[in-house]
Amino acid sequence: MRGNPIGIFDSGIGGLTVVKHLQRLLPNENLVYFGDTARVPYGTRSDKLIKQYALEDAAFLQQFDIKMLVIACNTASAVAVDLLKKSLDIPVTGVIIPGVEAAIRSTKTNKIGVIGTSATIGSRAYHTRIKQRAPQVRVFGQPCPLLIPLVEEGWIEGEVTRLAIRHYLSPLLENDIDTLILGCTHFPVLSEAIASVTGPSVRLIDSGEEAALITRKILQELDLSNADNNSPQTQFYVSDIPQKFDEVGTRFLGKPVVNAGRVDFDAFLMEIGEKIYEPLNK
Ligand code: DGL
Repeated sequence: MRGNPIGIFDSGIGGLTVVKHLQRLLPNENLVYFGDTARVPYGTRSDKLIKQYALEDAAFLQQFDIKMLVIACNTASAVAVDLLKKSLDIPVTGVIIPGVEAAIRSTKTNKIGVIGTSATIGSRAYHTRIKQRAPQVRVFGQPCPLLIPLVEEGWIEGEVTRLAIRHYLSPLLENDIDTLILGCTHFPVLSEAIASVTGPSVRLIDSGEEAALITRKILQELDLSNADNNSPQTQFYVSDIPQKFDEVGTRFLGKPVVNAGRVDFDAFLMEIGEKIYEPLNK
């Protein structure tokens, strides 16, 4: 079991920002990543559809006998983490709770900002978790949908990007936040540009990095860590256009993505049948 891979999924390419930290913090682990590039974005879809996609993505990864699942996508974590925790018999972590814990540790003024997709902010997942853990904290959410295509197009600095960031962050900064959760896989790529707008008094929380830390902790606690591995592997699978994933992936992973494989996801779904959808009806 210890040598089995950790499964990671995202709506597309952004989850590579989480893989980056998993590779750094868990250098002995084998990883298998699925990016649902055929159906991205998730952030503009309904909760019902996001839950269905999350079940399907997890089912795909389970074919690799994964020992743990990391939901790298903030949107899928916001909407479907409880569903996946209930329906899978392996440990599951999303990125929301790890981000929340780090933000609560960070804030001194008890004012936390959260940025993410429309679905993530609309779900109030960060709000709810922060309030449960620290009722005294005020939470200010802001959907930032335009930042996602900017990152995918490689506009990670420059006037247009800074203008968009300033536009989105102004209301949060007016509320004197001292901590900002980067609640979307793409936003760590913009850390420098975001920091140039917020200034040094706001601490940025990378939910993906926090999720990698929690993954390490869970594996240690369950005695599932892979202590010995001379040739750790990371396999990448996507549901469409692997060439683009390889090309754009470097920006997210910080090094080249090698040879993502294309999965015929429709054929896979036909094969597995209706059983995986049962948790949706409970
Ligand atoms: N991966 C998504 C997230 O972190 C961003 C892209 C999308 O909307 O699917 O929320």
